[in-house]
Amino acid sequence: MKIALLPGDGIGPEILAEAIKLLERLRRDGLPIETETAPIGGAGYDAAGQPLPEATLRLAQAADAVLLGAVGGPRYDMLPRKLRPEQGILAIRKALGLFANLRPALLYTEVAAASALKPELVAGLDLMIVRELTGDVYFGAPRGRRTNAAGEAEGFDTMLYSESEVRRIARVGFEVARKRGRKLCSVDKANVLETSMLWREVVIEVAAEYSDVTLSHMYVDNAAMQLLRNPRQFDVIVTGNLFGDILSDEASMLAGSIGLLPSASLDGRGKGLYEPIHGSAPDIVGQNRANPLATILSAAMMFRYTFARADVGDRIEAAVRSVLAQGGRTADIAAPGEPSLGTAEMGDAVLAALARQS
Ligand code: IPM
Ligand code: MG
Repeated sequence: MKIALLPGDGIGPEILAEAIKLLERLRRDGLPIETETAPIGGAGYDAAGQPLPEATLRLAQAADAVLLGAVGGPRYDMLPRKLRPEQGILAIRKALGLFANLRPALLYTEVAAASALKPELVAGLDLMIVRELTGDVYFGAPRGRRTNAAGEAEGFDTMLYSESEVRRIARVGFEVARKRGRKLCSVDKANVLETSMLWREVVIEVAAEYSDVTLSHMYVDNAAMQLLRNPRQFDVIVTGNLFGDILSDEASMLAGSIGLLPSASLDGRGKGLYEPIHGSAPDIVGQNRANPLATILSAAMMFRYTFARADVGDRIEAAVRSVLAQGGRTADIAAPGEPSLGTAEMGDAVLAALARQS
């Protein structure tokens, strides 16, 4: 189990440290885990002048899985786009062909009070967003700046999907739905965008291979509204890169905190990059306040999807659940006035819960 560790920036190193403690514990328990660490994002820029240094990419390519903290920070905001920390993530996704991004939004009943919605709307919430990750307006060309005929500056990007890109992410959506509640909702903007019209046609075509899954379609504006009105109507959502970026942040608030949501970015052959969906949280860096659970749960997804060890994933998730059940809370999910654990204490609590299982 060769794992590349990419802490990144901001709270990235702090939250990844807690996942590393967990990996070390699992190695002592007998899992053949090997890790190596490399810089990415702003840390990559500081170390090698690039958000994705070549050595980091090589390490990630040689590894079976990548576990990442977060990238970005105010220090790097003035850099040109190509050097910004975010480009490190985008480039590694593209270079490793990680086109399928799985973002579960699961409500742990223990923290239902932290949800932005009323408990009766989110009780039992368990939805999965399957976001396409290497296409769309994120990568479409041409893009850039130009001066128009009137002498005014213009910025432009290209929203673009090829049939094969849509087909392979649609298949992932159907496969995931098949193993869950067998309901797939494809989210697009087919009432306006050419890209989405093609998207919808291809998804409908792929549906013929999955007669056991019920397919529906929804415009993205309506989906944003439905996620707040009645989120439990969804089982699996499949959508493009930009819409998935936005909807997954929205969905995280249903689950109580963005600090709870893990993600897996997969290449279709088992390799994956695992990261919390939140950012580098510059406002709380170095204060031992960040919630490490999204990163720990990302490690659980890694055992499930890359190493085919659902049993280990289950154990980690059960440990997290038991800590929450016993009232363990980081500041982001604590009720007002309720005492909270620091980042490291939360990591320790998960390890202790894991130890109690065996
Ligand atoms: C995410 C993030 C990234 C994205 C940024 C950091 C490039 O928001 O993983 O959701 O937009 O994909
Ligand atoms: Mg995002």
